[in-house]
Amino acid sequence: MTIEKIPLVAVLGSPVAHSKSPLLHGFWLKQFGISGHYIPIDVKATDLEQVLQTLPKMGFVGANVTLPHKEKILSIADQISDRAALIGAANTLVFQPDGKLYADNTDGYGFIENIRQHAPDWQAKDGPALVLGAGGAARAIVSALLEAGAPEVYISNRTRSRADQIKSDFGARVSVVEWVKASTEIEHTHTLVNTTSLGMTGKPALNISLKGLRPETLVTDIVYTPLETEFLQAARSKGSTVVDGLGMLIHQAVPGFERWFGQKPVVDQEIRDILIP
Ligand code: ATR
Repeated sequence: MTIEKIPLVAVLGSPVAHSKSPLLHGFWLKQFGISGHYIPIDVKATDLEQVLQTLPKMGFVGANVTLPHKEKILSIADQISDRAALIGAANTLVFQPDGKLYADNTDGYGFIENIRQHAPDWQAKDGPALVLGAGGAARAIVSALLEAGAPEVYISNRTRSRADQIKSDFGARVSVVEWVKASTEIEHTHTLVNTTSLGMTGKPALNISLKGLRPETLVTDIVYTPLETEFLQAARSKGSTVVDGLGMLIHQAVPGFERWFGQKPVVDQEIRDILIP
């Protein structure tokens, strides 16, 4: 009788105790009846490289990386996907049989799949996007919107230099709008995205006027605590289709699970219910 190896996957971060990923992957492992494990490991930045050399020897087939490792991982990985290189950060690692460490970024994929699931008629190419914020999540989302065909992407951020950096990295279809003037762009916007932490429980609200918002505009938020932010509520009351951020978290996990465990999970209400705080 042969005993199969039990595949192990970790989420590496510091702190990592709050991560929802073990709950998510743990549920799917059980659903598929896969005898694998997905565990959180608190790793300091100075130990990351050494930990990554050791994990494959212990039966780990891959990992997610979260704060503060998402950028640093690119200097450690042997192979980097094009989208991770462009974004400047990775969240999904595969330990390959030849020992090489492959790094990918699935945040933008999660963003697009979440919208497609909840607003099937939406198409990025149908008009300009306005992205509020210019952190790591914004970089992944701008990259995904451009790849999905958005004709123009406007970025507005409190710290303008971060928005300028995205423009210089992503090119001609990207424009920067002053943070205080963001609302003036809204009436021309086909896709409106909040990538800032504003509106999250315990943080200040996102104070942007939705006066010019048209019902045709799709509005989405990466914040998912609360599930429907005040920003989304305000957009919904103006007749817009709104998509909450929980689905992005779930969808970004799908490609990793499939690579590590060989099955593609379905994103449905059951998994949402498990993650809703
Ligand atoms: P991540 O990389 O996870 O996206 P981040 O780099 O901390 O996180 O970025 C958070 C985003 O929220 C940034 O766009 C940040 O704006 P700054 O670049 O000016 O810091 C935005 N943000 C956070 N608090 C804010 C506030 N009080 N007002 C306006 N924007 C805020």
